[in-house]
Amino acid sequence: MEIKIKKLGIIGCGAIGNDIAQAVDKGNINVVLHACFDVDRKKFDALAGKLKNVKPRFMPAEELMTECDLVVECAHKDAVNSVLKMAIAHNRDIMFLSAGGVLENTDLIEEARKKKINIYVPSGAVVGIDGLDAAKYSGLRKVTLITRKPPQAFKGVKSLIDKGINVDEIKTETTVYEGSAKEAVKDFPQNINIAATLSLAGIGSELTLVKIIIDPFITNNIHEIIVEGDFGRFRAITENLPSPNNPKTSYLTSLSAIVLIKKIVEPIHIGT
Ligand SMILES: NC(=O)c1ccc[n+]([C@@H]2O[C@H](COP(=O)([O-])OP(=O)(O)OC[C@H]3O[C@@H](n4cnc5c(N)ncnc54)[C@H](O)[C@@H]3O)[C@@H](O)[C@H]2O)c1
Repeated sequence: MEIKIKKLGIIGCGAIGNDIAQAVDKGNINVVLHACFDVDRKKFDALAGKLKNVKPRFMPAEELMTECDLVVECAHKDAVNSVLKMAIAHNRDIMFLSAGGVLENTDLIEEARKKKINIYVPSGAVVGIDGLDAAKYSGLRKVTLITRKPPQAFKGVKSLIDKGINVDEIKTETTVYEGSAKEAVKDFPQNINIAATLSLAGIGSELTLVKIIIDPFITNNIHEIIVEGDFGRFRAITENLPSPNNPKTSYLTSLSAIVLIKKIVEPIHIGT
């Protein structure tokens, strides 16, 4: 099979951008890392400085979009709108890590779909999206995300401060949110990507249920997905460790993007 995707572009040279670039550099993805962009040029210089075998060029987003066959956005949810418009204008396939931004731009996603542009959203920080994707075709009854994080992960969260909750004083397991994914992403923006990915893959953000628990007895984030439908029921639990490039990003997120790029550029698909 001919591999059509040859040149990869990355928008956003942070934790995930670095992990992807390093995977290409190690020869783990059979693709040329042609160009990268970041609003902060120093982030690009730091990324390029860590690479031994590949030499991506620094290129403005629009130019990068015209020159690359596949572009990976791993910048910020607010970048999604302009990146999507560029992808539509230049007919380019695009992968979004900022799943929350994708959920906010469903009209543009529909426009891209009509133009037969491939849009990819990796499973990110959780396992179980493949099962949800498959279960959707059997009739889904209920999709629930239970997110459990240590108190320090909620430091500075405005919705908790507004309610007078001091996370340092939490000594027992405390549920701080229970409701729709749509409302959850407003009050807990740091949970936006998992809730958005789950909503996009399943039954939408109004019907997807989210429960958020502050757990003083754990040190790493734990996400549980429970899906019920005509296929039966599954529970998928992910216990995340942080990316070596950013303690706030789960390493599995970068790995899920790397494996999805591999699946796009290499003709072997297992477990999708
Ligand atoms: N899908 C998931 O499960 C999941 C998990 C973690 C993070 N994410 C999302 O992925 C994205 C990247 O995460 P990260 O951990 O690498 O973040 P990061 O903060 O380490 O890096 C982001 C980089 O993007 C740059 N940037 C910001 N806005 C930009 C723009 N408009 N154009 C170009 N560059 C821009 C920043 O300067 C920074 O270097 C974020 O939106 C994050 O919320 C998704």
